[in-house]
Amino acid sequence: MAGNWKMNTSLDEAVGLAMGIRDQSAGIEGVELIVFPPTIWLNKVSEVLRGSRIMVGAQNMYHEASGAFTGEVAGSMVKELATHVIVGHSERRWLFGELDEMINKKLNAAVQLGLVPILAVGERLEDRQAGNTEKTIGGQLRRAFEAIPKKAGLIVAYEPVWAIGTGHAATPEIANEAIAFARSVIGELYGADFSREVRILYGGSVSPDNVAGLMGMPDIDGALVGGASLGIDSFLALARQGEEGNA
Ligand code: PGA
Repeated sequence: MAGNWKMNTSLDEAVGLAMGIRDQSAGIEGVELIVFPPTIWLNKVSEVLRGSRIMVGAQNMYHEASGAFTGEVAGSMVKELATHVIVGHSERRWLFGELDEMINKKLNAAVQLGLVPILAVGERLEDRQAGNTEKTIGGQLRRAFEAIPKKAGLIVAYEPVWAIGTGHAATPEIANEAIAFARSVIGELYGADFSREVRILYGGSVSPDNVAGLMGMPDIDGALVGGASLGIDSFLALARQGEEGNA
């Protein structure tokens, strides 16, 4: 269960959220928990969560190792504070113009550094309405993974753009269908065994009210959650249901 805090929380709020999740998740065992605070709070949040079972990741990174890249954060910097990094979130793609080529470079840099990438893919409403869902997701996956060595632990997130932040999550059936397709593309790229191992999350308006149905689907291994990850109680409610979904 992955919580993407996006550009939310003050420093005090981030610390409070991290502490609350840390202290109140004690009995929740059967699900991995990870939070993605704003980059500028990573240092503090990772300190709060050190030694706990809650993992920490960055929402983004840059692929170059160092240099004159004002405002960017290198993967090696992320690696000092976190274990995971989201690559290719649709907000990066559509609001900040990140193209597949850059996403491929970021993914490569993350893998080389030993960070666990969560590669996000997903179609826009117009892609789906035009019958291009598989073409879009398949293209995003193939271009992102081009020339990237098979890496155990890799995570993919299927996040249809039309479902993110809209309150309209994909139905479990629609999400499962797209994720099964994504898994088949990964199978073509890396082999069937790997495609069974790779964890694929669903993201887009996941809430405590709909997570159980999603997690009950055979191809859905977890969730990448924005809005509902910003409250201690709602994130823990997701975690508990994630635990049951895994059972
Ligand atoms: P949401 O965001 O849960 O607020 O829809 C999901 C995401 O963008 O990862």
